[in-house]
Amino acid sequence: MIAAVLLAALRPSGIALTQSWAQGTAGAAPPNRPLEPAANAGAFRHLRALQDIASASGGNRAAGTPGYDRSAAYVSEQLAKAGYQVRFEEFEFPFFEERSPAVLVVNRADGSGQSASTGALRTLANSGSGDVTARLRAVNLKLGAEPPGASASGCEGGDFKDFERGAVALIRRGTCQFQIKVENAVAAGAAGVIIMNEGTDGRKDAFSGQLTKLVPVPVVGIPYALGSTLGVEAQAGGVTVHLAVDAVAGKRPSRNVVAETSGGDDGAWIVVGAHLDSVPEGPGINDNGSGTAAVLEAALQLAQGPAQARGHLRFAFWGAEERGLIGSRHHVDALSDEERRRIALYINLDMVGSLNFTRYVQGPAATDDGPAAVAPRELVAEFRERGLNIEERTGTRFGSDDSSFSQKGIPTVGLYTGASGSKSEQQASLFGGTAGRPFDPCYHQACDTIENIDREVLEQNTRALVRALNAVATDARGLDRSTVR
Ligand code: BES
Ligand code: ZN
Repeated sequence: MIAAVLLAALRPSGIALTQSWAQGTAGAAPPNRPLEPAANAGAFRHLRALQDIASASGGNRAAGTPGYDRSAAYVSEQLAKAGYQVRFEEFEFPFFEERSPAVLVVNRADGSGQSASTGALRTLANSGSGDVTARLRAVNLKLGAEPPGASASGCEGGDFKDFERGAVALIRRGTCQFQIKVENAVAAGAAGVIIMNEGTDGRKDAFSGQLTKLVPVPVVGIPYALGSTLGVEAQAGGVTVHLAVDAVAGKRPSRNVVAETSGGDDGAWIVVGAHLDSVPEGPGINDNGSGTAAVLEAALQLAQGPAQARGHLRFAFWGAEERGLIGSRHHVDALSDEERRRIALYINLDMVGSLNFTRYVQGPAATDDGPAAVAPRELVAEFRERGLNIEERTGTRFGSDDSSFSQKGIPTVGLYTGASGSKSEQQASLFGGTAGRPFDPCYHQACDTIENIDREVLEQNTRALVRALNAVATDARGLDRSTVR
């Protein structure tokens, strides 16, 4: 389930972003330099292992499932064999599962009835369970404007002043979190909530959403078109709905895998991480087997060289990212102030093998000459020296584990090749591929398999990571006590 509420919080629209187009060579995209096949085998072999694990585990590697636990076992065994000290960090995460599909039947005053098709109806995560038949009441929908403007339906308690207790509330998405709308509806006595999409650009179809806390009534989302029809009918009176959700919610244990060299002294640390869990819908080979494979391969390659002997590198494989960044949050919350200050930089990899890729290097603004500046500089240098275009961004933040670190004031840098967003003409001229198509055509779907990977871009990102880590770990000024913030 995509956390639309969280997403809104993490990716506010209209965010100021600084962007530069780093050109490997002047003009159009340079030809990608082919990589020798032996090098390609590196990170990609871990993806084969993760695909095999998913295939043997019901098709996914989601938190709380055998596919995740086997992925964690694979990664930890590889790291331990390479000489790292490996630990599991246990935590609990909230889970939510539907036992049967939601039902919405509309009964009109003239006696006609209509069932919402299964594709149109999505249960919000953390919806209550229940089976209600009640009158439908529209809540400050402000329908009628074409094209529809933004909605604040249900964001204020006053929106419910004429609400009939025991009715089902029809609310429009927009302005405030789903949780606020639903809590206002519950306070007004709603027996169930139907949230229609907002009707603005990109917010018209069926949508998946998440409530941040479990609520006591059933809550479903429907497309804008269905919602506006129902809204007009409800305002005219006489519409009754049958709404049913059958779901279980609770807590499950999961774990991060964390590997370190036996550093020992009191210098600064670089943490590099990738989330290890997939969504339940598929094997998650690009999201985020690719980041996992790149970080694991970098750890194994560094274990062979002198940098490893210096310690100060922590490799982390986060659990339950897809459930709301739970594993990485658990990690940073468990750090003491002293431990947190010692983390000079967090490097995040999430989706680094997208078929219709871009090459993002995200943040931080280089301000000093410490490890927080050296690592991004070396990442960028590796791409440039190979004639590979990148996009450097400091403002955009994706919904990924770097947020857990930046929220604690730790500088972050991230490598990404794109998710469901659409490639622009400018990006197609810089990176090749197809404009107007998603970077990853299988984002959060069952088709995110080993076939959904561009091996070269995966390898390019892995090499950049290895170079940056080698540079910070071997830099004379790099990670001694003087660089602790
Ligand atoms: N891999 C995605 C995040 C992402 C998007 C990375 C675009 C790089 C480019 C991640 O696994 C994800 O799906 N995150 C959620 C939010 C999270 C808090 C549950 C999302 O973006 O919807
Ligand atoms: Zn991801």
